[in-house]
Amino acid sequence: MKKSLILAIETSCDDTSAALIDGNCDVFSNVISSQEEVHLKYGGVVPELASREHIRTLIPIVEMALEKAELGLKDIDAIAVSANPGLIGSLLVGVSFAKGLAFSLKKPLIAVNHIFGHVFANFLEHKDIKFPFLALIVSGGHTELVIFFSAVEYTILGKTVDDAAGEAFDKIGKLLGLPYPGGPHIDALASGGNKLATAFPLPMLKHKNFDFSFSGLKTAGMLFLKEKGTLDEAQTHDFAASFQHAIVEVLFWKTIKALEKYSLKTLLLAGGVAANSELRSTFSEYCNKHNFKLHYPSEEFCTDNAAMIGAAAQFKYKKKKFATLELNASSVKGMKLL
Ligand code: KG4
Ligand code: ZN
Repeated sequence: MKKSLILAIETSCDDTSAALIDGNCDVFSNVISSQEEVHLKYGGVVPELASREHIRTLIPIVEMALEKAELGLKDIDAIAVSANPGLIGSLLVGVSFAKGLAFSLKKPLIAVNHIFGHVFANFLEHKDIKFPFLALIVSGGHTELVIFFSAVEYTILGKTVDDAAGEAFDKIGKLLGLPYPGGPHIDALASGGNKLATAFPLPMLKHKNFDFSFSGLKTAGMLFLKEKGTLDEAQTHDFAASFQHAIVEVLFWKTIKALEKYSLKTLLLAGGVAANSELRSTFSEYCNKHNFKLHYPSEEFCTDNAAMIGAAAQFKYKKKKFATLELNASSVKGMKLL
């Protein structure tokens, strides 16, 4: 008998995912259907196509998740769903489905903030994480430094005033002619390049606050590419490495400053950009040397997935923080708990 078994659903952007996870954050299945092929020719996510694709794939994905876990709907104790933030049409598909299922099975419904999901993805593989901790949340839409005192008490120290880190990677990826999203491709190109080839600006690094800005850096990258015309292979590697290095440097030094200022000993990396190899190795090296506890999810759990929604939902399940069938999706950016 699995305890506190949650069926979690994630449809906030362009991945349809369902997972089964118990109260110990053990994952029995985490099925993800990517829409990459659908959006490829448009160079970014087309919201209307994304919602239609979720409608088409969600039920088969839930069935696959149950089958993989060798469980049935009767085994589920609660249904969790990503309710905000994200693309409104995409969110609505997941929320409507979760509400319908919770109603028909007479099981509690749990609304999860997608950003919290990214943070709590860390608990899937590290069960012993202790509060308080600092989280660096870096995804396609968010860049935030947040102190978590508990699963529901947190303080946002800073966030991006314009583009998110992932957005900067993706926009430069597009200019380089890379498939969407560009982040992982720039990461791969960077591994063969010299990160010191070009010194790109390090936006807001010297500012006393913990806010970020990436739109100026993106413009600097764009102007560099415009000025150089076409790059040969070696120059492309160097450019990717230098551009990535500028993003990592800013994220790294601001995060270290926050750890020190607030005397925190544990750091969690969260969100798609936490899969970046330079970001991981830079933090790993520093945290090892200076005795900080560092956690980041394995790649499967870094980018959008339902298991992370289930992990965040488990905290709410324990405190019986359930949503009603009045629950509505919200596209508003940020960490508001519904
Ligand atoms: O968290 P996520 O899957 O979706 C959002 O909630 O936004 O993050 C997607 C972002 C994209 O911008 C993608 O380019 C970036 O994460 N990303 C990476 C890497 N893997 C994914 N960025 C840099 N390096 C990577 N290895
Ligand atoms: Zn995400």
